[in-house]
Amino acid sequence: MENSNRPKIANVYRGTFIHSTQKTALQILEDELLGVDTDGKIAFTGRGTELVRLSQTFGFSPTEVIQLAKHEFFMPGLVDTHIHACQYSYAGTALDMPLLQWLNTYTFPVESHFKDLQFAHKVYSQVVKRTLRNGTTTACYFATIHTDASLLLGKIANDFGQRAFVGKVCMDRNDSVKHYKETNQESQEETCRFIAELLNKKYPLVRPVVTPRFALSCTGALLGQLGAIAKNNNLHIQSHISENVEEVNLVKKMFPDSESYTDVYLKHNLLTDKTVMAHGCYLSDEELVLFRETGASLAHCPNSNISLCSGMLNVRNVLNHKVKLGLGTDVAGGYSASMLDAVRRALDTSKILTIQNPEYKTLSFEEVFRLATLGGSQALSLDDQTGNFEVGKDFDALRVNVAAPGGPIDLVQCEEPKIILEKFLNLGDDRNIAEVFVAGKKVVPFTEPTTE
Ligand code: GUN
Ligand code: FE
Repeated sequence: MENSNRPKIANVYRGTFIHSTQKTALQILEDELLGVDTDGKIAFTGRGTELVRLSQTFGFSPTEVIQLAKHEFFMPGLVDTHIHACQYSYAGTALDMPLLQWLNTYTFPVESHFKDLQFAHKVYSQVVKRTLRNGTTTACYFATIHTDASLLLGKIANDFGQRAFVGKVCMDRNDSVKHYKETNQESQEETCRFIAELLNKKYPLVRPVVTPRFALSCTGALLGQLGAIAKNNNLHIQSHISENVEEVNLVKKMFPDSESYTDVYLKHNLLTDKTVMAHGCYLSDEELVLFRETGASLAHCPNSNISLCSGMLNVRNVLNHKVKLGLGTDVAGGYSASMLDAVRRALDTSKILTIQNPEYKTLSFEEVFRLATLGGSQALSLDDQTGNFEVGKDFDALRVNVAAPGGPIDLVQCEEPKIILEKFLNLGDDRNIAEVFVAGKKVVPFTEPTTE
């Protein structure tokens, strides 16, 4: 290759890199070099001992290499495949009811306030900053039915440098909170306006996602229209499925012509290889086959599943069916906006399933690490761009310092990298996340914008 065609190297890092690949849930690379080009892409990786050769090949000075400290490592950024940005305002409260009552009592009244752009600005800035500090480099957000506030969420994610999918929520059915819904025509028109205006901003890392709230909030007509809008614009789709028994039974009643909850979405062209459906606790094996055949994915939201007493997803069965799967915080059904919490709750859920049935093969921390990173990027069809440290992908990464002073982890001796990762996943928090990179750019620590 001609040197002139080669992208310019912006930064080179040296130290321990831990990531997942298609083949292995945990690959640990010690004394590794990784070069990031000026476009934020991983230009090369190689052994530390190859420094001189790599510096000549890629044209950087060995003295500029950034060396990680002893208890530091790089891991891929965390991918939150399902989070309601608007619900961050009441995260950590209101977890005393099952799903449908919870929506009517807490969620819809709060979401209706996002008509107020000042309120939306406050909450959306908080959630983007909090998730970035927690290491979420990619977030798949639900906003509310309000187009302008949803556009504002896109702007804030872009301003702080987070990779994001943003969905203006669609719902033309709501029997409990009558003022929090759209007409069918509004929902269609505003969805089209949202998509056009967000795409028009040309934010490099922020994309619109077609977002029917769930089958119970939408008429069949709207579901079909949204399926067509997604198809015509080649867009991602997100919604909820089979989260709670009462919900599943009501969907059966409301859509008697469909064979299953999955069939409702399938019939309306909402199950595609760019679809991510949250929960799926009560999906049958036949429905999982439909997911695999269409390429649709699931977002496992264990905190929410437990907090709202919804159910427990059998992740092993989903993986055995080769359905793409990521993790989601599902704030505020899930009370934590940290993907580290999602990792822990996913492990807990799998252990509870093992307690109930000793034959159940518990998930390993390595497998859950993969779900939180590469799995999430696959679920969002972003795995050609992010999810691990393969050359050509964007550098989305966390610089983790397990021994951060004042942090939650005490080390007795110099532990091996696998133990250090396990400690971070189980005990760590944002104090251990020294830096966060999205597409090569350092986004944490960030400076607050001066004009609020
Ligand atoms: N189903 C429909 N809307 C919601 C929501 O906001 N949160 C959760 N957890 N489930 C839903
Ligand atoms: Fe949700």
